Amino acid sequence: MSGVLTPVLTAHWDQPDSFTLAGYRREGGYRALEQALGMPQADIVTALKGSGLRGRGGAGFPTGVKWGFIPQGDGKPHYLVVNADESEPGTCKDIPLMLATPHMLIEGAIITSFAIKADKAFIYVRGEVLHVVRRVQHAVAEAYEAGYLGRDILGSGYDLDIVVHSGAGAYICGEETALLDSLEGYRGQPRLKPPFPAVEGLYSCPTVINNVESIASVPSIITDGAAWFAGMGTEKSTGFGIFSLSGHVTLPGQYEAPLGTTLRELLDLAGGVRAGHQLKFWTPGGSSTPILTDEHLDVPLDFESMAAAGSLLGTRALQIFDETTCVVRATLRWTEFYQHESCGKCTPCREGTFWMVRVLDRLEHGNGSEEDLEKLLDICDNILGRAFCALGDGAVSPVQSSIKYFRDEYLEHQKGGGCPFDPAAATLFGSSR
Ligand SMILES: Cc1cc2nc3c(=O)[nH]c(=O)nc-3n(C[C@H](O)[C@H](O)[C@H](O)COP(=O)(O)O)c2cc1C
Ligand code: SF4
Repeated sequence: MSGVLTPVLTAHWDQPDSFTLAGYRREGGYRALEQALGMPQADIVTALKGSGLRGRGGAGFPTGVKWGFIPQGDGKPHYLVVNADESEPGTCKDIPLMLATPHMLIEGAIITSFAIKADKAFIYVRGEVLHVVRRVQHAVAEAYEAGYLGRDILGSGYDLDIVVHSGAGAYICGEETALLDSLEGYRGQPRLKPPFPAVEGLYSCPTVINNVESIASVPSIITDGAAWFAGMGTEKSTGFGIFSLSGHVTLPGQYEAPLGTTLRELLDLAGGVRAGHQLKFWTPGGSSTPILTDEHLDVPLDFESMAAAGSLLGTRALQIFDETTCVVRATLRWTEFYQHESCGKCTPCREGTFWMVRVLDRLEHGNGSEEDLEKLLDICDNILGRAFCALGDGAVSPVQSSIKYFRDEYLEHQKGGGCPFDPAAATLFGSSR
């Protein structure tokens, strides 16, 4: 059964000192850095391209290709920015990774910075998770002391400084260009693209922005090779990733497995849906990815198969909901989140999320009509593809997909004059358990 799992990023999470420099080095930590510093920088980029690693922050853009966009010999400073803002509802992999093995992220960040010829890197961490900010800061200080950061790293002549920046806590600051504005001290709102950050990023200089898990995957690709990584997963979605199971599941947690694993396999490892209940719906990668149902249990969790099934792989945040959950209420909660987090820069998202909440609220409390469903879908059409950034597109996912699979449940609310579900039964500690 555990043959499904491929622990690499999570291999040492169970060791009490996994977060310390000594604990990380005992397991071979910083060997990849020594190796990388002896390689021509272009070969590191080639290795990443060969591995097929696709960004683990949601969009799945090939990491090596992104690094390859950084202009060479342009005379400008280059920057690496690690996106550690994790705040998509359901997404909970980067924070445990930084808590358990911050040095894996730091080692990956040093190798990446070396490869793209950056001498300054930033780790932008969500400020609310103060314990994680402190842990990463402490690990960075240990790395300086050991000579992995600062001047003339391991005698290679390469210099790098890492700054741990604590964000003020806004979902939009995870969007890469809003993150850059926030890092520069402005209000975090998305920038117009192009120019893309690789050309004009932080302080208008070439910048690579990558997710925590993407960067933490780099050391193992250097030591074990691109072919080893590409040999896992599927042809176009290579390697392993952390799948985060939460909600109505017996053993919630992080399960590291090759891309292309199915929810059925992961649920088997996680003891199934909570006892006495059945799967009703789930998100493959956070609330911005359209919900799926039990008919999708055997769809491989890779970028292509999820798209073919009408959803997205996103951040592999598998939120499991059983039959006690009201899909209208869940959709209302998610939409309230998007309304709250909409940065207000563009009209479709700012106004659309506001109106979707009002209509959903009416429907959930039995005061809606069938026409309201059409109104909701119409608002979705006016947001999707018309919003300035992907937050708007993400906001329509739960609404459109829940109406697609559970139209009758929406209408039952209207017929019965209110929600037919007992919200207490859906809570993890509910009496029905
Ligand atoms: C609203 C919004 C929030 C996002 N939040 C995050 C985040 O917290 N962490 C992250 O890595 N990517 C986030 N992204 C995706 C980033 O814009 C970007 O694609 C990613 O950091 C690139 O890294 P990767 O190529 O390694 O995945 C978000 C995107 C949007 C639209
Ligand atoms: S889509 Fe939403 S979050 Fe993105 S720019 Fe427009 S208002 Fe801001």
